[in-house]
Amino acid sequence: MSSLKRGTVHDVFISEFSPHGVGVGLIDGRRVGVPQTIPGDLVRVRMMTGHHGIKIGKLVEILTPSVTRSASVCSHYPDCGGCQLIDVPYERQLAMKSEVFYSVFDESLHSVIQPIIGSVNSQFYRNKMEFSFGLSSSGEIIIGLKRRGQFDQVVEIKTCYLQSQKSNDVIRLVQAYFRKNPLTVWDYHRFQGILRYLTIRESKSTGKMVVTLVVSQECGEILQPLAVELTSEISEVSSVLMAVHEGAADTAFTTSYAPLIGSGLLTEQLGHLNFQLSPLSFFQVNPVQAKILYDCVRSAAKLTGSERILDLYCGAGTIGLYLADLASSVIGIEENPQSIRDAQTNCKLNGIKNAHFITGNVRQVLKETSLGADVIVVDPPRSGIVPKALSRILAIGSPRLVYVSCNPASFSENLAGIFAAGYRLTSLQPVDMFPNTLHVECVGTFEK
Ligand SMILES: C[S@@+](CC[C@H](N)C(=O)[O-])C[C@H]1O[C@@H](n2cnc3c(N)ncnc32)[C@H](O)[C@@H]1O
Repeated sequence: MSSLKRGTVHDVFISEFSPHGVGVGLIDGRRVGVPQTIPGDLVRVRMMTGHHGIKIGKLVEILTPSVTRSASVCSHYPDCGGCQLIDVPYERQLAMKSEVFYSVFDESLHSVIQPIIGSVNSQFYRNKMEFSFGLSSSGEIIIGLKRRGQFDQVVEIKTCYLQSQKSNDVIRLVQAYFRKNPLTVWDYHRFQGILRYLTIRESKSTGKMVVTLVVSQECGEILQPLAVELTSEISEVSSVLMAVHEGAADTAFTTSYAPLIGSGLLTEQLGHLNFQLSPLSFFQVNPVQAKILYDCVRSAAKLTGSERILDLYCGAGTIGLYLADLASSVIGIEENPQSIRDAQTNCKLNGIKNAHFITGNVRQVLKETSLGADVIVVDPPRSGIVPKALSRILAIGSPRLVYVSCNPASFSENLAGIFAAGYRLTSLQPVDMFPNTLHVECVGTFEK
């Protein structure tokens, strides 16, 4: 019997997916999960520490690819860690996602699962990307994405198929600029160096872009000529911002920014509404598909014009505002104050008079305020709804509950509590928001 100790190397045939979308194979009768693999791959793995009771192997090499894989359009795949499945034809990706989705739920619920809705675009669909600065083997500044499985190495990106061709022009220009005007690059081991991330946010409806340089120290004067070059050379770039992140944490997220050129604001259209996006607020990354997701919520809510809607975990209020014309009132609750400010701005921008937003933790707000509702929409973070918040939500007793989830596994963990409160699941709609990954979004409709 071979040892599955950490660090040992094994060859394994991947035979199925786990409910989390991880390829699984057997080594000496023991199940081993191998992220980034699909059924049919024969792979070499190095054993890691177990996770959720399953042994995990880190992919070292695909020895024989699954017949499902074909030539990737992207020359950086699989070195670049940005995509999991870009070498799998999109129709086959959808079939895989559907298979993983069904495996999460008890068979008694399979009859309410609807066919998965595919993404209109499987390439160039994202409105936001965070590229990293790094150094090539010859010491030149490069911009790209993290090497698969390596937090401290960057693969230089010439063409990324996730955002837009124009975003590739931005990468090229910024990289060329820093090769002529070098600054130090962030070192992931010594926690020093200036250049960290290049974030590009783009409106899919206007084509305008906001470019943010995430640096470890204030250097606005040095970056100003780059901002001028970007806006004069690429007409779609409407703002260039500097965001300072000094800490060791490897993230492009900051709580503030300084404009070098422009306001940092973008406008995105979703169906009948326009949304203003401020640099720090959350927005769905696939806006074309977000409209389709929100249309699913709109039909699940079965509104007649007289309903009071509660939009919980509402972000910038996008779902509630999208439903407001069919409701008597909308109340949104969200803990991020910046998102609530955006929700209020978007409410005014669209002339909506029947929506109101509350800043706070869902559990706390529902404990302190007595709110009635005919339809409750929930869209919690990946971890799902914590039991105490779920009890408060269910105690309202709305006849209809629409649950939007980006994580079918945490959604399924909330099911027992929802059923115990007298609801039944009448429809479960998977929607693909993230082509080339195994993530699936879903909309569950519950009725009393
Ligand atoms: C998946 S996002 C949903 C956003 C929005 N519905 C949309 O479609 O853009 C989840 C939101 O829940 C918020 N959130 C997380 N935990 C929360 C809590 N306990 N109370 C209130 N809001 C919370 C996050 O800040 C985030 O904006």
